[in-house]
Amino acid sequence: MDHVVLTGDRPTGPLHLGHYFGSLANRVRMQDEHRMYVLIADYQVITDRDRPGEIQANITDLLLDYLAVGIDPAKVTIFQHSALPELNQLMLPFLSLVSVSELSRNPTVKDEIAHSSQAAVSGLMFTYPVHQAADILFCKGTLVPVGRDQLPHVEVTRLVARRFNERYGEVFPLPEAVMGERPLLKGLDGGKMSKSRGNAITLKATEDETAALIRKARTDAERLITFDEERRPEVANLLTLAGLCLGRKPWELADEIGDGGGLALKRLTTDAVNDFLRPIRARRRELSAPDVRRVLEEGNARARERAVETLREVRDAMGF
Ligand code: TRP
Repeated sequence: MDHVVLTGDRPTGPLHLGHYFGSLANRVRMQDEHRMYVLIADYQVITDRDRPGEIQANITDLLLDYLAVGIDPAKVTIFQHSALPELNQLMLPFLSLVSVSELSRNPTVKDEIAHSSQAAVSGLMFTYPVHQAADILFCKGTLVPVGRDQLPHVEVTRLVARRFNERYGEVFPLPEAVMGERPLLKGLDGGKMSKSRGNAITLKATEDETAALIRKARTDAERLITFDEERRPEVANLLTLAGLCLGRKPWELADEIGDGGGLALKRLTTDAVNDFLRPIRARRRELSAPDVRRVLEEGNARARERAVETLREVRDAMGF
C-alpha cells in the first residue's frame, strides 16, 4: 500500500469496451494493492463544450459502469470535482507556477483546440491541465494510470509539484504516469473508438444493440481470415476485440475461422463480446440509481477530508 493511485473520467456518456480494456480492468486489478481514487471529472466536461449537458445522468451512468465492472467502493474513493471546493482552490496557486508559454505548448490541449467545435478557446481549455494537477496532487497521488494522450498533463503535474516544492518546501511527491500495455482498440468503423462517433460498444448496450453494431462493422472482401494489422486493420481489430473478450490470441482465432469469411468473424466476435459483458450487464441492472448516488456521497466526503488537509498544508507552506 505504498502508492496512491488516481485516475479519472469525464462524465460525457457511458463507458465502452475501449475504456474497459484500456483502463477499467487495470483499476480493478490495482484496487487491492494500492490506495485508489477515481475522479468523475465533472468540471472538466466544460473544457470543450459550452454546457455540461446531461451531467447528472452521465454521472449516474459512470457510477453504474464502475460498480458493474467490479470497482469496489469499500476500497476505492470515487468522487467528483464539484463536491471538493478545496481541490478546486489548489488550482489558483498552481497556476502561478506555470508560464503561459508552457501552457500553450501542451500537445494534447493543442489537439483538442484543433478538433473543437467551439468558436473560441476558453481560458479553461487552456488551463485545465493545471486543474488536472490539482486532481492528482490533492491526494498526493504517486501513480496515474492513463492513456498516451494524457502524458503531457502528468508532465504538467510533475512540473507544478517540483516548482511548488522548490519554492515553498517539500509538500508533494512527483507522480508517475503508468500506461496500459493492452493493444489499442479501434472503433468499429476503423476510426478512434469514441462514444460520440457511434462506433463503440458500450458496456451497457443490449445484446441486440451489440450484435447490430458488429454486423455493421467494416471488414474486407477476402474470405480467408488472417490477422494482419497493417494490411487488414478492420479485420485485425475485430480479432483483437474477440481475443480480449475470450482471453485468447487474435491470430489463433483467425486460424480457427479460416475461410469462414467476415460473417463467421462477426458471429464469433458478437458471441465473445456478449458472453464477456453478460455478467457485467447483469450486475449493472441490479444496481439502483439512489444506491450509486450514495456511493458518490460517501466518496466525496472522504476525498474532501483529504483535500481540506492538503489545502491547509499548501497555505501553511506558502505563509498564508
Ligand atoms: N483528462 C482525463 C480525460 O479526458 C480525465 C481526467 C481528469 C484525469 N483529471 C484526471 C485523468 C486526473 C487522470 C488523472 O480522460
